[in-house]
Amino acid sequence: SSTIKVALLGFGTVGKGVYDSVETHQGRLQSILGKRVEIVGILVKDVMKQRDIDSNILVCSDIEQILQIPNLDVVLEAIVGVDTGYDYLSRAMDKGIHVITANKELLAHKGRELRQKAEEQGVRLEYEAAVAGGIPIISTLKHLLKVNSIVRIEAILNGTSNYILSDIRENKSLFRDALIQAQEKGYAEANPSNDIDGWDAFYKLMVLSEFVYGAQPAWNQVAHRGIRDVDLTHIVAADSFGYRLKHVASIEYQDGVVKAAIEPKFVPSSHPLYSVEGVDNAVIITGDLIGKLSLQGPGAGALPTASAIIEDLVNVFQVSDRKTLHPDVTFETTTGKEVQEWL
Ligand code: NDP
Ligand code: HSE
Repeated sequence: SSTIKVALLGFGTVGKGVYDSVETHQGRLQSILGKRVEIVGILVKDVMKQRDIDSNILVCSDIEQILQIPNLDVVLEAIVGVDTGYDYLSRAMDKGIHVITANKELLAHKGRELRQKAEEQGVRLEYEAAVAGGIPIISTLKHLLKVNSIVRIEAILNGTSNYILSDIRENKSLFRDALIQAQEKGYAEANPSNDIDGWDAFYKLMVLSEFVYGAQPAWNQVAHRGIRDVDLTHIVAADSFGYRLKHVASIEYQDGVVKAAIEPKFVPSSHPLYSVEGVDNAVIITGDLIGKLSLQGPGAGALPTASAIIEDLVNVFQVSDRKTLHPDVTFETTTGKEVQEWL
């Protein structure tokens, strides 16, 4: 067929971000994939809500109607919750449909079962957007794991918490007001206690553990704390000693033993997480061969998350990765003047 037929499950921050990005990047996608990406169905909870969606697209609240769309190739899942997501994705895979999900809570709880089903059905299950928003952490780890043993990962994995900590420090905001801003910007979870009580970062760390070590620690073995009780006094005190308070998720491997923790930590100015601000996430990976590798970028929000989801989509359907994407570029001569003035 000349199109890749896609259904979106969810049309909130993430679903709408994907919808808009497919529209703005259609030409680019077509040149990479050799096919148009066509959104043919959108699943929502409340069909009565006003939405700006092309009238040719089926918008409904019944998953069966979506999965019965003829020749559906892939579903992109961005809804909330574990049981519903598991049910929808399982049913899609049973019909031979590929699935891409941003739902880390679902993956932490049921990732193993979903992977097994994907294997049985010969379909792809991808989830780049589920961890660290726009940062290509899963694909980076996939590359590293071909040769490296991953010894340690230290990370900021919740954009909302980092945004709140930054806003309190930089603008002396109240915790509550900073959280409201994060919600308004589409960073926070539908239930923001997932962010501020550390659950979101916990789920993401479990997804990473499963990906890197093939298993998760027992959840009650993981020290687990969010930023709910942090206020300006903690942040000011840290600042006066040259430290910043960060919500840090870490996982470490030594002699066959894995240790994981999620907690607010004081980090010194020499630490790579010290200057990670706003909605950014950062992941510092230590591999036995490569040493330390750091990635930093937007950890939440419509477009960064859409970027990760569409990256997965391209990975599932791209035949060759050697396409020239900018056949029309020209190059400008540089002078190196700025440097010369200093030498
Ligand atoms: P929103 O709350 O903005 O949107 C959720 C969407 O899912 C809504 O369109 C809602 O329908 C729909 N929905 C919820 N439950 C159901 C259901 N049972 N059946 C059908 N549709 C349903 O959430 P986000 O877009 O922020 O997040 C979606 C997912 O992506 C979550 O799993 C989240 O953890 C994850 N994620 C979020 C990121 C972000 O930056 N926000 C980044 C990375 C991952 P309706 O519109 O009718 O209410
Ligand atoms: N609520 C999440 C965060 C969304 O703030 O990081 C991205 O997974």
